[in-house]
Amino acid sequence: MDNRHYFVAFLAVIGLFFLLALITIPIWIPILIFNTPLIIGIYLLAKYTRFGGVLEKWYLAVYDWLVYQSETPRRLLWQGFYEFMSWYNQDTDWVTMNYGYALLTDDGHMIDNLLTEEQDKHECFSLQLYYFITGTNKAFKSLEGKTLVEIGSGRGGGISFLTRVFKPEKAIGVDFSMNQVEFCKGRHSNINQLEFHQGDAETFTTVEGIGEDSVDAIVNVESSHCYGNIDNFFTQINRALKKDGVFCYTDFRGVEGMEELQAKVEEYFVVEKSIDITRNVCYALKLDTQRRLAVIEEKCPKIFVPLINKFSGVTGSRVYDELSERKTLYHAWLLKPKKAGPSEEIME
Ligand SMILES: C[S@@+](CC[C@H](N)C(=O)[O-])C[C@H]1O[C@@H](n2cnc3c(N)ncnc32)[C@H](O)[C@@H]1O
Repeated sequence: MDNRHYFVAFLAVIGLFFLLALITIPIWIPILIFNTPLIIGIYLLAKYTRFGGVLEKWYLAVYDWLVYQSETPRRLLWQGFYEFMSWYNQDTDWVTMNYGYALLTDDGHMIDNLLTEEQDKHECFSLQLYYFITGTNKAFKSLEGKTLVEIGSGRGGGISFLTRVFKPEKAIGVDFSMNQVEFCKGRHSNINQLEFHQGDAETFTTVEGIGEDSVDAIVNVESSHCYGNIDNFFTQINRALKKDGVFCYTDFRGVEGMEELQAKVEEYFVVEKSIDITRNVCYALKLDTQRRLAVIEEKCPKIFVPLINKFSGVTGSRVYDELSERKTLYHAWLLKPKKAGPSEEIME
């Protein structure tokens, strides 16, 4: 078990302890007295005995369930994480949050001519992921006069880039983190046709400006692994898209999770393209590791640096290792709506 895992497990236990102490203020002193040796005991047991291996397995199983498999806890955890990150960090020189896409060439670059803002150049691999899932698509070449929506728009860099390149009449970024939405409203206010609204991927057709059969293109980049219920999300996509609309979708999953996701995608949509891009994402992370480490060091609270490194996918992180060993797969799809949902197929 590496030190980062001990550190995170340690933080989790301390957090739980403080929560308990808060809820039970009248008895917090005895809790403190009895729990401190317990916490120190567990820590020493994990670090210096062979129980460490067993504890690591449990820890990773609980961690994966909480972060990637559960329904309500997963949603709440990710929501808290992104709210905190954007509340803490309002710097305008950080606008994307995905693992990126690189061509398998020396420098991995593919769209240098489209990176018109200074910040685009720093975050080029993350923007390349956006371009990879949209740029070869006929619908995007003719987006002028149409509506583009991104669900899970994060710090807004992706939809800002797509709006500048493809010039839709209207573009809407939706994210459930209110802090991120507020950040985007300020950071991307230079683009007139772009707006941001708070909303949940599982109910986003209630968001202002998005209704039934109202959207020409929807983009979703590395966000759906946070959602509690993917069926709700796909149902919403089918509801919001016009009949000839497109859904450009990309995300990662473990091997089994990806099989399940593929089956769901085929159930809900007409699949125009389905491409495994794990190698390209992994290569982007490799090329981008030094920059990412520097950004994390500069912008994240010191105490969270080990945790953030874990998610950031830098070389040596669990995310990077699992992508390079293909225990985690990254996939991209170009999809068309099945307007009546999966049940219609069964009826036919
Ligand atoms: C890894 S970030 C990716 C952000 C952006 N797509 C990008 O590539 O820069 C995932 C984003 O999904 C958002 N998100 C997670 N769950 C969501 C939900 N249920 N509804 C809307 N947004 C959600 C998070 O707030 C976060 O901004």
